[in-house]
Amino acid sequence: MSDEKVPFLDLVAVHRGLQNEFVDILKTVLGTAGFIGGPMVQGFEEDFAKFCESRFCVGVGSGTDALRFALMAAGIRSGDIVVTVPNTFIATTEAISQAGARCDFVDIEERTYTMDPGKLRQYLEKDCSWDSGTKRAFHKRTGHPVTAVVPVHLYGQMADMDPILDLATQYNLKVIEDACQAQGAEYFSKKGNRWRKAGSMGHAAAFSFYPGKNLGACGEAGAITTDDEQLAQTCRLLRDHGQSKKYFHDIEGYNGRLDAIQAGFLRAKLRHLEKWNGQRRDIAHRYNTLFAGAEEDVTLPHEPEWCRSVYHLYVLRVADRVQLQKRLDEAGIGTGIHYPIALHLTKAYEGLGFRVGDFPVAEKAASQVLSLPMFPELTSRQQERVVTEVLKSFVVVSGSGSR
Ligand SMILES: Cc1ncc(COP(=O)(O)O)c(C=O)c1O
Repeated sequence: MSDEKVPFLDLVAVHRGLQNEFVDILKTVLGTAGFIGGPMVQGFEEDFAKFCESRFCVGVGSGTDALRFALMAAGIRSGDIVVTVPNTFIATTEAISQAGARCDFVDIEERTYTMDPGKLRQYLEKDCSWDSGTKRAFHKRTGHPVTAVVPVHLYGQMADMDPILDLATQYNLKVIEDACQAQGAEYFSKKGNRWRKAGSMGHAAAFSFYPGKNLGACGEAGAITTDDEQLAQTCRLLRDHGQSKKYFHDIEGYNGRLDAIQAGFLRAKLRHLEKWNGQRRDIAHRYNTLFAGAEEDVTLPHEPEWCRSVYHLYVLRVADRVQLQKRLDEAGIGTGIHYPIALHLTKAYEGLGFRVGDFPVAEKAASQVLSLPMFPELTSRQQERVVTEVLKSFVVVSGSGSR
């Protein structure tokens, strides 16, 4: 087998066939000087809302903007508590804090790495008390009201939304999906007995189009989807300095607009997204087949029957990640870690007072997860090389008796 390098992600290959179309988009934008807003942004918003089976889409500057604006537009206020998971990118909790709320965490499910609805129930039943006057759960220790939950659809796989939505109804919580890694992922909801798209289940959802995402811009971009017209309208105000028309500021907002060039590129790429997501699923299944029999050494991604993952990442779990990553690096194989420190233990949140052991499932996952190369153009030959090198690493480790 060749020792050809295998990148973790290839953002050159994906754009090769799109260059002519992208040049036409640039020419249109330059020819009209319609850099901000306008028909390109509107066109993308319409297409993306349709893709997500959602009524409205509001294009914004990043996934972080999308989360922050969605939370604010959903009515989250200073002093509220918003509950999420510790194993996500810090943008999830940054947005919660920047909306004025305090973030709290519940642990994840061991196999899917997404929010454990049982832990959310426990949190609401044991750590909070229900006030029937305000119709709010109040956190017993801090006295703050819990007003929203942010399930994160991690690695391309949706959280177990039915029980989360039931708890949200019972406890009067807004649900903002962090769908930044899950464009096109699906969840089989027992409620309507049908598959539901990421971004169509919560009160609102946030998407990131950071270049490496399944649908990635050629710069920064994001979007909010929602069925709530008022929420969409407030997000439109928030992204544009609170302006309902030029220089008429209904509220204080932000500079969080989606620019027309990125919207044009995203609209062109959106037409390929289903095909690319299908390729990612095929690649994941091929990895699973190639790893068959190695389950003692590696824990493979788990896709429950209620979920169709779009494999933004293909994440293994191993006991000795440091040595495996080093070995793959020496073999020219790119890997990533998503994410090495559970957020409650990260320096930025020292002030929240969490300790090691508070969320053991997320902490253990953070020490063991390793993301392998995953992008639609990854060849079967490259995959075979990755798997061979991973498996070799266990032979070496077992041989040295250090496992
Ligand atoms: C789970 C999650 N949430 C939020 C974000 C933030 O998105 P952006 O980088 O576009 O601000 C990301 C992007 O990396 C993400 O992966």
